[in-house]
Amino acid sequence: MSNVHVIEHPLVQHKLTLMRRKDASTASFRRLLNELATLMTYEVTRDMPMQTIDIETPLETTTGRVIDGKKLVFVSILRAGTGILDGMLSVVPGARVGHIGLYRDPKTLTAVEYYFKMPSDMHERDVIIVDPMLATGNSAVAAVDRLKEVRPRSIKFVCLLTCPEGVKAMSEAHPDVPIYTAAIDRQLNEHAYILPGLGDAGDRIFGTK
Ligand code: URA
Repeated sequence: MSNVHVIEHPLVQHKLTLMRRKDASTASFRRLLNELATLMTYEVTRDMPMQTIDIETPLETTTGRVIDGKKLVFVSILRAGTGILDGMLSVVPGARVGHIGLYRDPKTLTAVEYYFKMPSDMHERDVIIVDPMLATGNSAVAAVDRLKEVRPRSIKFVCLLTCPEGVKAMSEAHPDVPIYTAAIDRQLNEHAYILPGLGDAGDRIFGTK
């Protein structure tokens, strides 16, 4: 599982534990998700390309290194991915944002696309796909399949939680896409929820249950 990066930082683990608790309110779940997304962005952008520019301090001319935020695209898998975006944009405010909407066909159980909107010139951009839960891996694999059609420079996948089934599905379909997560939980249950997990991420973010 060399393409899986588990972010063990104490702040990440602490906030994840608070989010898992069933009595966390919608407001605190959302706030913690925001904070976690910010912290995870540090890890996932660690190897971003940088350029050197000339600048003037109040005392003299010097050079400094900067990233080109416009080259980065955060792609949210609707709807739960939206909950992670604000935290990520707070540290990379120039990043572009794409959206993918997928639903599961009840007969075939395959992921069907209903929305796809990306910035132009994707071949010049590095993509970070965000979805809080990598469970069966069906939507993640379908999202990467679709994104590869527009040929971005690179693709990474960020989630809060995953499980062995999700990691296996993604690693088999897309071994070239690194996965960043705060934890690999034990297993999926018969309804495709992660155990011990944190429940339905979308419902907890938006307070819909
Ligand atoms: N999606 C969720 O929101 N939670 C899970 O446990 C699995 C998929």
